[in-house]
Amino acid sequence: MAEPDRTAAAPRSVGVVGAGVIGTSVAHAVAAAGLRVVLVDSDQAALDTARAGVRRHQRLGRLKGGPQIALDLRFTGDLRELSDVDFVVENITESEQAKSALYEELDRVLRPDVPIAANTSAIPIALLAAPLADPSRVVGAHFMNPVALIDTVEVVRSPKTSDAALGALTALLTRMGKQWITVNDAAGFVINRVLMVVANLAAALVAEGVATPAQVDGLFRGCLGHRTGPLRTADLIGLDTVVRTLDVLHDHYGTAEYVAHPALRQRIAQGDLGQKSGSGFFTYDRS
Ligand SMILES: NC(=O)c1ccc[n+]([C@@H]2O[C@H](COP(=O)([O-])OP(=O)(O)OC[C@H]3O[C@@H](n4cnc5c(N)ncnc54)[C@H](O)[C@@H]3O)[C@@H](O)[C@H]2O)c1
Repeated sequence: MAEPDRTAAAPRSVGVVGAGVIGTSVAHAVAAAGLRVVLVDSDQAALDTARAGVRRHQRLGRLKGGPQIALDLRFTGDLRELSDVDFVVENITESEQAKSALYEELDRVLRPDVPIAANTSAIPIALLAAPLADPSRVVGAHFMNPVALIDTVEVVRSPKTSDAALGALTALLTRMGKQWITVNDAAGFVINRVLMVVANLAAALVAEGVATPAQVDGLFRGCLGHRTGPLRTADLIGLDTVVRTLDVLHDHYGTAEYVAHPALRQRIAQGDLGQKSGSGFFTYDRS
C-alpha cells in the first residue's frame, strides 16, 4: 500500500481525549516528543490517576538516568479546551455509542481542519467518522501500550480518510520516532482481529486447568520467541477492554471465536482488570 507524504509538518499541539491506560501513555509520549498536549477525561479520578502515572514514569526515567524532559501537558475535564489544538487522538472507552456521541461533540469543538486519530481496538474508522460533517478527517491510529516503548503503530485508512489526515498522523508519528504499517478499515483491523481470539483461547485454557497463566505465556515466549505471552498482554491492555473489544468484534462478525469466555467476565466482576488494578492473570506491584 502507498505510504503518505512523510514531509507533512507535525502538529504543534495535540488534544488527547480519554485519560485511561492508553490515553495517558499516548499523551505522555506525545508530550515527551516536545509537543503541547491537552489531556481530557470526563472522570476527575481518571485525570488524577493519569497525572500521578505520568509523574511516576518521569521520576523513574530520571532515576534511570534518562533525559530530563519538561513536559507541556495539561489535564482537564473540559473538552472545549481543545478548541485551538492542531490534532486530536481519541482514546475513550471502547464503546461505539460513547465514541459516536463524543465525535458529534468534537465536530462542534474542534477547528474544521483538525484531523482526528481514533485509537480504537476494533471499531471501524468509517463508522466512527460517520457523525462528522467531514468524515475524511478521521484516521485510525492503533497505539500499543506502553506507547513510549513500542515503536510501531497500526495505522488504519478508511475509504473516506483524506491524504491530509493520514499525512498529519504520520508526521506526528515521525516526530514521536515511530514506525507504522497502514492497513484498510475492518473491525479489529489486523492485530486485534487475531490477538483477541488468542487471548480468549488462552483464558479458556487456564479456566479448563490445562495450564497456568505462567505456563501459557512461557510457551509463547520460549517456543515461539514472543516478547510477552497472550495473558500478560491481555493484563497490560486491561481485561475489561479485552472483553469490550471481543464484544465489538462479535457484533461485527457474529462468529463464535469472538464470544468472550465467561472466565474473563468473572475476573472483571472480581475487580481483576489486569495491570491497572494490580491483578489479572498475574499480579503487579503498582508502587
Ligand atoms: N489498553 C490498551 O492497551 C489499548 C491499546 C490500543 C487502543 N486501545 C483503545 O483505546 C481506548 C481506551 O482504552 P483504555 O484501555 O485506555 O480504556 P480505559 O477504560 O482505561 O480508559 C478510558 C477512559 O475514557 C474516559 N472516557 C469515557 N468517555 C469519555 C468521554 N465522553 N469524554 C472523555 N473521556 C471519556 C473514561 O473516563 C476513561 O478514563 C479504547 O477504545 C481501547 O479499545 C486500548
